[in-house]
Amino acid sequence: MINAKLLQLMVEHSNDGIVVAEQEGRDSILIYVNPAFERLTGYCGDDILYQDCRFLQGQDQQQPGIAVIREAIRTGQPCRQVLRNYRQDGSPFWNELSITPVHNEADQLTYYIGIQHDVSAQIAAEERVRELEVEVADLRRQLAAVGH
Ligand SMILES: Cc1cc2nc3c(=O)[nH]c(=O)nc-3n(C[C@H](O)[C@H](O)[C@H](O)COP(=O)(O)O)c2cc1C
Repeated sequence: MINAKLLQLMVEHSNDGIVVAEQEGRDSILIYVNPAFERLTGYCGDDILYQDCRFLQGQDQQQPGIAVIREAIRTGQPCRQVLRNYRQDGSPFWNELSITPVHNEADQLTYYIGIQHDVSAQIAAEERVRELEVEVADLRRQLAAVGH
């Protein structure tokens, strides 16, 4: 096993956001965020600690992935969903969010680790592929019509 200092160094230098939350009533409140989370979201850790991460959703809370996450947390299951989130400056990004509950024997509490991976470029590329597929299908139809 690596020592705690090395583990901390790794988490602090991760390219993906890494947060730890604990349950408080119906909220999962942040008790740690790494520098990559601060870079990704534009929020400073000190300003958002002890808040539930749903502030990243802004007014955009009707996304199906959010209900999946809520149910996974309720039943103590890990989950992975892609959500639309908003930085502090209001700009949107696509967040592939992985959440895993971890039970700590020492205090008999369950904590959650959340990993945030920015998949905006991938989602934009997928959208472009869909647009091009529609264009290709349209061109095929036009070609077939000319052929007849
Ligand atoms: C460890 C952890 C990290 C989370 N990270 C995010 C996040 O980056 N973005 C987000 O929109 N929601 C995130 N959530 C999900 C929200 O905190 C919340 O659980 C979700 O919105 C469902 O609950 P609600 O319907 O009560 O809002 C995270 C939750 C946990 C436990």
